[in-house]
Amino acid sequence: MAHAMFRPRRLREKPLLRALVRETALAVDDLVYPLFALHGRGVREPIASMPGQFRMSIDELVKEVKDAAGMGIPAVLLFGVPAEKDPRGSEAYAEDGIVQQAVRAVKDVVPDLLVVTDVCLCQYTSHGHCGIVEGGSVRNDPTLELLARVAVSHAEAGADMVAPSDMMDGRVGAIREALDEASFTDTPIMAYSAKYASSFYGPFREAAESAPQFGDRRSYQLDPANALEAMREIALDLDEGADIVMVKPALPYLDIVSRAKAEFGVPLAAYSVSGEYAMIRAAGRLGWLDEERAMLEALVAIRRAGADVVITYFAREAARLLERGSAR
Ligand code: PBG
Repeated sequence: MAHAMFRPRRLREKPLLRALVRETALAVDDLVYPLFALHGRGVREPIASMPGQFRMSIDELVKEVKDAAGMGIPAVLLFGVPAEKDPRGSEAYAEDGIVQQAVRAVKDVVPDLLVVTDVCLCQYTSHGHCGIVEGGSVRNDPTLELLARVAVSHAEAGADMVAPSDMMDGRVGAIREALDEASFTDTPIMAYSAKYASSFYGPFREAAESAPQFGDRRSYQLDPANALEAMREIALDLDEGADIVMVKPALPYLDIVSRAKAEFGVPLAAYSVSGEYAMIRAAGRLGWLDEERAMLEALVAIRRAGADVVITYFAREAARLLERGSAR
């Protein structure tokens, strides 16, 4: 007799059976929620290209964070919009800078929530680049000292983890050394290791007012065509002391996520960036796709590719749906 036909559909018929054999779980405790802090009081400014996201003054931000924590979201990633910009991005490392104030306020109100800070200069520099500019180009080594100061100032304000996103060479090592010297030996670094020069950051740059005023970021962010180079960047960051490495953006770079997990087997984050959020939101609004399902599918795919940590502007919506069990 011919051997019995294998029927994969047997395990797909019943929802509980599907759930029983599901390979990838998306859980609220894998999510990190990015937020934008702004000076002022009572400010909650919608970001046009990111419907549902706001730039918030600290009083409003604290409410948002309390809500998120109440939904079980374990971590926020804070970005700041400074009062003034200058060539050296000095508000980025000011003791009373917007992010430093926001960190203190959040830790004060929700001490258990993890506060992660983006360590970069581009929102704070008048030229909009992630480092010091001299003679029309972004200088690497003089920037390291400033980035280290940013990281230490965040740790001093109470940040649970710092996340350098500038893509200067050697910044993880410089930050690690400065944190250790300042006795923050237990503050982890989540490095934006494989950060691509991506058009998918467009909406973020509107939100953070961080678009470069001349040129672009291709002299420091990765070429989207390169995968081997991304592996090398990750290896370097690990060598310099990164605790979590990150791939960014997420959806167009799932091969990089998968490869990074397979090659390094270390805690891995993927940042589903502003443009990914905007695409799903926009198509949903137009009625061109089912926004909730598309969102959950995208988030599960990022986890399936190998990310342990998923940074997403959909954190609240996802938490709500996961709570209701609609991920089934
Ligand atoms: C700062 C930074 C950027 C993002 C995170 N940190 C923008 C950039 O590099 O231009 C993008 C996040 C997003 O698009 O959601 N360097």
